[in-house]
Amino acid sequence: NIKGLLFDLDGVLVDTAVYHYDTWLRLAKTMGFTFSEKQNEELKGISRMDSLDKILGWGNVSKSDAEKLELATQKNNWYVEMINKMTPAEVLPGALDFLQSAQKQGYKMALGSASKNSSIILKNTNIAHFFDAIVDGNSVSKSKPDPEVFLKGAELLGLKPSECVVFEDAAAGIEAAKRGGMKAIGIGDEYILKQSDKVVSGLDQLAIQDLQEL
Ligand code: G6P
Ligand code: MG
Repeated sequence: NIKGLLFDLDGVLVDTAVYHYDTWLRLAKTMGFTFSEKQNEELKGISRMDSLDKILGWGNVSKSDAEKLELATQKNNWYVEMINKMTPAEVLPGALDFLQSAQKQGYKMALGSASKNSSIILKNTNIAHFFDAIVDGNSVSKSKPDPEVFLKGAELLGLKPSECVVFEDAAAGIEAAKRGGMKAIGIGDEYILKQSDKVVSGLDQLAIQDLQEL
């Protein structure tokens, strides 16, 4: 019996996945290389520093820790410039309706994101009030696919992992949910998210009743 919903943020509730991709690509170009949309899938759900390490690996460049910090800060400055301008219009199709009906039906809800920028995004898109608990990049030490972020979310909701469903657009996030003992709904591509209990193209394709059939 499902009682709690654990939502990833970027690419599930809001359209920020494309901002992450654009700004990482911009950073790679300053170093003289690019990477593909397929490679970008591997960056979804993982922390800023882990993302940078992967990208540097793809470009075959090595940097000192101080240089890495500078590069990550540059990327984040570009990214923050973009999310500072976000509005409620950038909540993904179906997400607001889904959050509203879930709240009405008494589900407890937590955020489970790797981002350190979650509070500004939640505020600008006006969805912060839906969440009983926020777990984000400021409160976890291990990146997805480690289940820490979702285990903390379930615990803060006072629920067992088996009573929770995770919503994720990243393969690493689906893996984290399964390792944590939760149900997982993939938002996006069926092949990329094949470990999920169910995959839909967006929250607009899902009804609250579907959760009890997982
Ligand atoms: C999410 C995104 C990743 C991003 C990570 C850290 O998990 O899917 O692409 O790298 O958060 O985000 P931050 O906003 O802290 O750089
Ligand atoms: Mg995501």
